[in-house]
Amino acid sequence: MQRLDKIIALQLNISRSDAKSDIRKGFVTLNGERVYEPSKGVDLPNDRLGYKGQPLFYKEHVYIIMNKPMGVLSASSDKSRKTVVDLVPDRLKRKNLFPAGRLDKDTTGLIIITDDGDFAHKIISPKKNVFKTYKAELDGAVSDDMIKIFADGVVLADGTLCKPAILRPLPENSAEIKISEGRYHQIKRMFGAVGLGVNTLERRAIGGLTLPPELGYGECRELSDTEIAAIYVD
Ligand code: URA
Repeated sequence: MQRLDKIIALQLNISRSDAKSDIRKGFVTLNGERVYEPSKGVDLPNDRLGYKGQPLFYKEHVYIIMNKPMGVLSASSDKSRKTVVDLVPDRLKRKNLFPAGRLDKDTTGLIIITDDGDFAHKIISPKKNVFKTYKAELDGAVSDDMIKIFADGVVLADGTLCKPAILRPLPENSAEIKISEGRYHQIKRMFGAVGLGVNTLERRAIGGLTLPPELGYGECRELSDTEIAAIYVD
């Protein structure tokens, strides 16, 4: 059992005191009956909730897909700089949102924002082998040797051995690269180790979930269950 006011506050992204006041005003129903007691116990997911005459579908967590723009930090908050969580519209906002995995400030593309730590661990942890696909624009051409070095595991300048990565050359000194870990500046350092500089970097996919083409920079929306399931199919 959980307290009604706590659930209402969390689900509607309002303060606990506003939730209490809405409940006392009779805006909330529990299994079709108005309830006026903020401390009323709710059995989730079995109980049905309503708010101002509309069903309130309880969600334990939110999963938001965003096309991260350049210049925005992958963080929950920052004193002076804009973060991906700042870009989440109020209707999707919740307490404790954070990006599941980091992109550099100048990297664009697919980022998932959630309040579900277990889910984030499952997609970030190198042990889970969820491949992240990036497109990089480089300052030189990818050679066959580089493809082999990436497949065997790049050794970074500090001696770190990376897990095998899939490198596929694209036209005009671009390349697609798939990695299943997320070390600091990893892709830039991997290309650096073979003598190439990265001009632009965009994340195109996490596992089998690709960046929807209609999602403009800074835009986001909730992921469907099917899309979340697609992450684990690579
Ligand atoms: N590798 C990088 O170098 N930067 C990113 O943002 C992501 C992967």
